[in-house]
Amino acid sequence: MADKITINQSSDFVGQTVTIGAWILNKRSSGKIAFLQLRDGTGFMQAVVVKEDIGEELFKVAKGMTQETSLYITGVIKEDDRSDFGYEMEVTDLEIIHEAVDYPITPKAHGTDFLMDHRHLWLRSKRQHAVMKIRNEIIRATYEFFNNEGFTKIDPPILTGSAPEGTSELFHTKYFDEDAFLSQSGQLYMEAAAMAHGKVFSFGPTFRAEKSKTRRHLIEFWMIEPEMAFYEHEDSLKVQEDYVSYIVQSVLKNCQLDLKLLGRDTEKLEKVKAPFPRITYTDAIKMLKEMNFDDIEWGDDFGAPHETAIANHFDLPVFIVNYPTQIKPFYMEPNPEEEGTVKCADLIAPEGYGEIIGGSERINDLELLEARLKEHHLDPAAYSYYTDLRKYGSVPHSGFGLGLERTVAWISGVEHVRETSPFPRLLNRLYP
Ligand code: 4AD
Repeated sequence: MADKITINQSSDFVGQTVTIGAWILNKRSSGKIAFLQLRDGTGFMQAVVVKEDIGEELFKVAKGMTQETSLYITGVIKEDDRSDFGYEMEVTDLEIIHEAVDYPITPKAHGTDFLMDHRHLWLRSKRQHAVMKIRNEIIRATYEFFNNEGFTKIDPPILTGSAPEGTSELFHTKYFDEDAFLSQSGQLYMEAAAMAHGKVFSFGPTFRAEKSKTRRHLIEFWMIEPEMAFYEHEDSLKVQEDYVSYIVQSVLKNCQLDLKLLGRDTEKLEKVKAPFPRITYTDAIKMLKEMNFDDIEWGDDFGAPHETAIANHFDLPVFIVNYPTQIKPFYMEPNPEEEGTVKCADLIAPEGYGEIIGGSERINDLELLEARLKEHHLDPAAYSYYTDLRKYGSVPHSGFGLGLERTVAWISGVEHVRETSPFPRLLNRLYP
């Protein structure tokens, strides 16, 4: 075996004989030459096997290679302009590690249910690989952005006793003899952390027992939740637009091949730079009325068609600010400029991908917060740690949560969030 490399290292080994551990993605052959499409997790490459060079016996092995068979393949790396990846291998030797028999996901088209049942294998396909690479880049850029901006990463608990986002969508579990819930947002803990560290962020799994079967809803998703002490709502909007611009520009820079493979219109993404437009909830309702939506009144929450209609007015993500108090959680700061509304915003992605961020300024007055807990029928004892934050040096503070899978869907141009989570938990789907 020659020096072992990975496909993405090919540029450093042009003209050299190397070995790559790979799987067979596809193959075609004529009488004397076989073309093997390889993948190794880091990239894709064509390997050319010439009968005359390799000998009859190995050529027969190459020609009989089945999809997803694993092998060590040795040969000389050549530049190849025709390939998206720029290189190919002229094979001098090969050794099968394991022969795959009847791999279920063939190059022909398969239905969604079939692919979802085989998610553990579907992840190997080029498209799914590209989506996961983009997801990874967004995570990488997230850490980079918040570290550069002086945030500290703090990890809130997953097993919790209280509910930040309303009690109807909670996953119950037992905590020995007590009732507990899986986290539906780390926000309340992040507020405590912000009082200790100033600017903090979390990144973790989030659970919502929502009986929604839409292209935007997962039961388990990952959320990035920054929280900033001494930040009023407008300061938080600035962080949000800078952060979203940063991740979009990072994906454009570092995932060119993945975006190309997905057929993403990158011109639209290139425009995504702060500042983003802002529109009030009240103006959004007026706009919808002008577009003849008669299924919505002031005080109702937006559905997906409303969000899409509003988003279609803008090239950039758009902030809808100052929603009615009655449709938002208990902790949001009242908006003194418009009675009955709170200082909050949802960020709606362009092109119909829906809400990717929800955020707000938090109530910092103890009395008001206690009154809101009461109105929402929440047990003050379960929230005493939260009200404590308003007893000892309370300050204005704001934060937000960005849903990773919806953001990946938008940036990748993938229709449904089931493709942006490696093992999506959906209504009626807990396997694989
Ligand atoms: O608007 P949400 O519910 O906000 C919160 O949970 C706040 N406590 C966050 C905070 O201020 N720290 O959710 C935030 C984001 C949404 O904009 C969306 O991107 C995503 O989380 N999200 C979902 N993603 C996939 N499936 C679901 N069921 C989602 N529910 C929310």
